Amino acid sequence: MFKRVFPPIFLFTSIVLASAQAPSVPGKPLPPGPMRAKIKAACTQCHNTSRITERHLTRQQWSGELEKMGGLGAVIPDADRTAFLDYLTANFGAQKGAVKDAPKATAKKSGSPAD
Ligand code: HEC
Repeated sequence: MFKRVFPPIFLFTSIVLASAQAPSVPGKPLPPGPMRAKIKAACTQCHNTSRITERHLTRQQWSGELEKMGGLGAVIPDADRTAFLDYLTANFGAQKGAVKDAPKATAKKSGSPAD
């Protein structure tokens, strides 16, 4: 009886946990900036900072991410949205560390498989 009920639940839980890492696992530190504390508070409830620091997106793409995270339950105050975008684009913009601009030997990436 239990055997028929629990495996699917366990499997589901594993998938959920795998897709959003436990925030207790420390991610890479966020670069300093006026929004660092707020970003940390708003964005590390479901996954650690590596989800953010490993990305290099355009402002528009970051906007899409905020949209998506909001849909998942992230609380991003309207008043802070622009500042969040400024911070994310300035530190994790597409031009910074983009693969095509990366110098030869430093292509050591610890990218997440989820992309
Ligand atoms: C309510 C939980 C939650 C919060 C809060 C949250 N995220 Fe996420 N985030 C997720 C989940 C779940 C995924 C994995 C989504 C997927 O695999 O499609 C994710 C994935 C990501 C990714 C990887 C790209 C992607 O879309 O999968 C980035 C970048 C990201 N989050 C940024 C942020 C930022 C920036 C914030 C703060 C504004 C934030 N997250 C807050 C749940 C959250």
